[in-house]
Amino acid sequence: MKRRVAILISGRGSNMAALIRAAAQPDFPAEIAVVISNRGDAAGLQKAAESGIAVEVIESKPFGKDRAGFEAKLQAALDARGIEIICLAGFMRLFTAEFVQHWYGRMLNIHPSLLPSFPGLDPHGQALRAGVKLSGATVHFVIPETDAGPIVMQGAVVVRDDDTPETLSTRILGVEHRIYPEALKLLARDLVRLEGDLCRTTATEQADQVMIWPVVS
Ligand code: GRF
Repeated sequence: MKRRVAILISGRGSNMAALIRAAAQPDFPAEIAVVISNRGDAAGLQKAAESGIAVEVIESKPFGKDRAGFEAKLQAALDARGIEIICLAGFMRLFTAEFVQHWYGRMLNIHPSLLPSFPGLDPHGQALRAGVKLSGATVHFVIPETDAGPIVMQGAVVVRDDDTPETLSTRILGVEHRIYPEALKLLARDLVRLEGDLCRTTATEQADQVMIWPVVS
């Protein structure tokens, strides 16, 4: 039985599209049962509908600071569709600790940095200002703290001296689109387990890979 997944978006939905594409493969262990946006103008909604995925809009703005009120409506939509796993993909609304606790171990997020470095806003600018030579993307379980939680998977890219936040973001986005489906696959196949604040996996092939940058010949 495929695990039933809801993707939550607020914007363009390129990670959503990558998840939808991967889940279209017959042997993928999860199906995208619904895409839910908290904004009616999210560009990703149209992409999802074009892929034949059910879409729902639950506007968060009318709820203002009433986060629990918004979440009650969201939870009802998730329950109605028998959702087992949530993937946040550019979802720009904070949750209450209660909602996060309810979904702990079953809700993933992706962030465009190698967490715990550079959480929050402008991670690409933060990486460039820090002068790191490698950056990347992280898929993690969601906890109440923003852009934190047990790390499921990371992918790295080199940071070039001439990178701008835009060029770095484009390169990292390519990695995001690769690792999010892979991380979801691990979770849906029960190949990850939580040990305290850490996420462990049995996937250990090629565990000796290294990436060194810059390379001087
Ligand atoms: C991605 O960079 C993701 O890592 C971050 O928000 C962005 C969403 O982009 N959480 P998209 O909507 O998936 O294209």
